[in-house]
Amino acid sequence: MYLSKYEEAMLHGDYGDTIARAMQVVVKVGDVLKADRLIEIETAHIAGVSYLTIGDPGLEYLEDLAKSSARFHVFTTVNPVGIDVLNDWGIDKEFIDKQWRIINALKSMGASLWLTCTPYEYLRIRPRTYHAWAESNAIAYINAVHDAWTEKLPGPFVVLSALVGRVPRYGLYTLSGRAPTHVVRVKGGQAINNPLIAGLLGRKIAEEVGDGKPYLVAKFGGNAVIKQLLASYATYSPHAFMVIDGVTPNHKEYLAMMDKPEEINLDINDIIKDSGVEKQNFDAIFLGCPHYGIDEVMSVINYVRSKRSKRAKKPVYIATTPFVINSLSQDELNLLENSNIHLVLTTCPVVSPFLKSVGVNTVATESVKQMYYLPKMIGINYISCNGIKCLDLAFDE
Ligand code: F3S
Repeated sequence: MYLSKYEEAMLHGDYGDTIARAMQVVVKVGDVLKADRLIEIETAHIAGVSYLTIGDPGLEYLEDLAKSSARFHVFTTVNPVGIDVLNDWGIDKEFIDKQWRIINALKSMGASLWLTCTPYEYLRIRPRTYHAWAESNAIAYINAVHDAWTEKLPGPFVVLSALVGRVPRYGLYTLSGRAPTHVVRVKGGQAINNPLIAGLLGRKIAEEVGDGKPYLVAKFGGNAVIKQLLASYATYSPHAFMVIDGVTPNHKEYLAMMDKPEEINLDINDIIKDSGVEKQNFDAIFLGCPHYGIDEVMSVINYVRSKRSKRAKKPVYIATTPFVINSLSQDELNLLENSNIHLVLTTCPVVSPFLKSVGVNTVATESVKQMYYLPKMIGINYISCNGIKCLDLAFDE
C-alpha cells in the first residue's frame, strides 16, 4: 500500500511507540482489505465504551493508551456510555467509578465527551468528506443524509484510526464501493410520518436487499422518522449504507451509477398492517433511540402541555444529550419532571443497567433498534408503540 513520507514516519516510530503501533494495525488492516492507500479523516466517533460491554480488559486497555503520550489526531466524539453523568439512577457505585475511569481515559486522549449516538445533530458535516465512525445509526445517517463517507468500523479500530487520523481506502470510502444495487420503491401514497413504521420499513429493506445497497424512493415527513428508518436499517444491514432519493446529496449521480439494478416494490400499507401495537403490560415508556434532539423533546413538551397538568401513570424515560438539556428552560424541565417524564443523559438502555436499576422489566418503545437489542443485551422485554402516541399508553392508561 502506498504511504506518504509522513505516514512512513508515523509507522517507524517518529511520533512515539503508541502511534507506531496504531499505524501498524491500520496499515495491516488496509493490506488485508486490499486498500491502495490511506485517507485522512475529518472526524472520528468512538463506540463500544460502556463498562457493561468492555469490562475491565477494555478499561485497562484505554487507560494504558491514555498513559502514553498519544493523543487523538482529529476531532473525536464518543457514543453513549453505561451511566448518566448527572444522575446515578441507582446504579452500583463500582460500575459508576469504572465507567468514569473509561471516560477520563478518553478525555485525556483528547475526545470531546458528547457521549451521544447522534453527534451528527451537532456537527456541520460536509458532503464527500471522510470520517471514521463506529455507531451504526450515525454511520447510516451521515452517509445517507450528508453523503459524508464512513465505513461501518469496529469501535477499537476507530480508536486507532483517531490516533493516526487515517483509515484505509476501501469499500464505502470509494465511489465505486458506494454504487447502489437495488432500487426500492415504497408505494402507498403520503409521506411516512410515523417513527415506528419508518423503523419497520428500515428492517424490511435490510431483509430484502441483504448485503446489496438500496436506492430508496419514498417520502418522509421529517428528520425524526429518517433517524428511525436509518437506525433500524443499520441494525439489520451488514454495511448500514443506503441512498435516499431527494435526500442524499448527489443522489442523481448515485442513480446514474446503477447498472441494471434489481427492483423491489414495497407497499407501506402492508407494513402498517403488520405493526399492530400490543396491549400488554409494561413498566415504563422508553424514547430516545437514537438520542432525541431538541425538536423531538419539544414535541413531548407540547404533548404534555396538551394534557393540562395530568401526570403519566407510568414513568417515561427519554435518552437525550447535554445540548438538549441546556436548551430547555427551567419551566420546561420542571414540567417534564412533574409529569413523570425523565430525561436521561449520555447513556442508552442497551449499554447501561439503569432501566433494571429503576425496576423496569418491560418497556414500551417506538424504536425497532431497541426491540432488537433490549432482550439480547440486558434481558429487558418490550412492547411496541407508535411515536408520540407512545405517551398515550402512559397518560391514558
Ligand atoms: Fe443510541 Fe443506544 Fe439506540 S446508542 S441508537 S440509544 S441503541
